[in-house]
Amino acid sequence: MSNKVLVDKAREVRERAHAPFSGFKVGAAVECSDGSIFTGCNVENSSYGLSLCAERVAIFKAISEGHHDFERIAVIADSHVPVRPCGACRQVVSDLFGQNAEVIMTNLKGEIETKKVSELLPTPFDRSFL
Ligand code: THU
Repeated sequence: MSNKVLVDKAREVRERAHAPFSGFKVGAAVECSDGSIFTGCNVENSSYGLSLCAERVAIFKAISEGHHDFERIAVIADSHVPVRPCGACRQVVSDLFGQNAEVIMTNLKGEIETKKVSELLPTPFDRSFL
């Protein structure tokens, strides 16, 4: 699966974002180790704190469909630079994808930046603490 295919899926699902409060639409696509892809968009709520980011929607959809082994995630928004996953999503990605996975950050202008989870969240809380 090329980066472009994953980014295109994220770009497509971004159109379905429910972001009436921020107006900031985000799309995400995750690739599982068996090659399957799950997508997600952000879903906001009038009780703001209940809103969910695109990345976590995509990841939780995959989990609920029985997929637990993740390779990569792409995220896209209409941002001045490639959009950065928020701290909560970094924690979720680190827990489920591991520190070596790739995070592909992009924007509608087509700028792409790829970083490893270890660069985005170098000292995560993880199961070793439990
Ligand atoms: N958002 C995401 O969906 N993913 C991110 O990585 C950053 C932020 C959403 C949450 C909220 O709906 C909107 O963007 C503005 O913060």
